Amino acid sequence: MRKASLISIASYLPERILTNADLENLVETSDEWIVKRTGIKERRIAQDEATSDIATKAARLAIERSGLRSDEIDALICATITPDHFCMPSTACKIAANLGLNTGITAFDISAACTGFIYLLELANSLVTSGAKKNVLIVGAEKLSSIVDYTDRSTCILFGDGAGAGVVSLSDENEIIDVHTASDGRFGDLLITPGQGSACVADENMLKNRQNFIKMNGNEVFKIAVSTLTKDVVEILEKNKISSDEIDFFIPHQANFRIIDAVKQRLKLPDEKCVLTVQKYGNTSSASIPMALNDAYENGRIKNGSLLLLDAFGGGFTWGSALLRFGGVDFDKISNAIKS
Ligand code: COA
Repeated sequence: MRKASLISIASYLPERILTNADLENLVETSDEWIVKRTGIKERRIAQDEATSDIATKAARLAIERSGLRSDEIDALICATITPDHFCMPSTACKIAANLGLNTGITAFDISAACTGFIYLLELANSLVTSGAKKNVLIVGAEKLSSIVDYTDRSTCILFGDGAGAGVVSLSDENEIIDVHTASDGRFGDLLITPGQGSACVADENMLKNRQNFIKMNGNEVFKIAVSTLTKDVVEILEKNKISSDEIDFFIPHQANFRIIDAVKQRLKLPDEKCVLTVQKYGNTSSASIPMALNDAYENGRIKNGSLLLLDAFGGGFTWGSALLRFGGVDFDKISNAIKS
């Protein structure tokens, strides 16, 4: 049976940092409230860059770290809720052009909100193990600052911009063991960007009512996220007969420290096995897991063969989890090779 592996990971962080102190100047909030309720201290903001620009930077590095030539990539899938353009062209097509990938490759976007990277893993795994593709570039990238209402203190403190990318390839070892993705559209209104779609067209009223920005019932989303994720991670471990002790690193979607902590406690995982970046980057939706994974990789924590458990929950609602052995080469080796 064919196996697929995540053979590289990379990310790109926009330069500008938006701190809690900066937000204190925009809305009635405090650093103390934000840190206590979410764990977030700062987030990155893309200024003169669109989603495809930041995505291209992460994707270029992911290809370089995979050891593949860019003409060996035969599909590119981008998960984003902040595409460069509302309808077309897709952000994936723009990234492919920016990178100079082969014309004619499969390229498309998916919309699964914060669960985007888990959906990408399932799609890439299926494409590679079915034999349809050999090397799939997956990108989670968001410019959430373009849909955040900086007059709404209940949401503007949460979100940031960033991009993460990886390559999934045919491999004999360190495979993607299992991916579970799910959705429940009955809860769509609890986390929604109502405007600028066929249900709420772009007109003066839409803009006046600020319908083009994220609206969230944070309290309800929080409760459902905790109960759904704690169940989901237990199920994927049980299904694959893997105990939480065997997990080397837990890399959750970075939305709120308290959601992550609840799942970590349910799994009885020690702090050192949990990768936390929410304090530095806030919630970057589909980019958050690959950005966190890359952080742990560049810090030398995640190595070739590390057993990883990922989980995410987001608008839709969508959620999911993944179990995989990381297939990338040791970062130290790569950085030495780049230096020499
Ligand atoms: N600063 C100060 N006070 C704030 C505030 C802010 N930035 N935002 C809200 N408040 C106030 C509210 O107005 C409310 O005041 P009241 O009691 O006088 O009405 C109070 O704080 C409590 O608000 P509440 O919404 O119940 O807070 P919370 O503990 O649920 O925390 C979130 C709010 C958004 C941090 C939390 O609900 C959350 O993280 N939800 C999930 C978000 C998420 O994960 N979304 C994406 C899914 S991927």
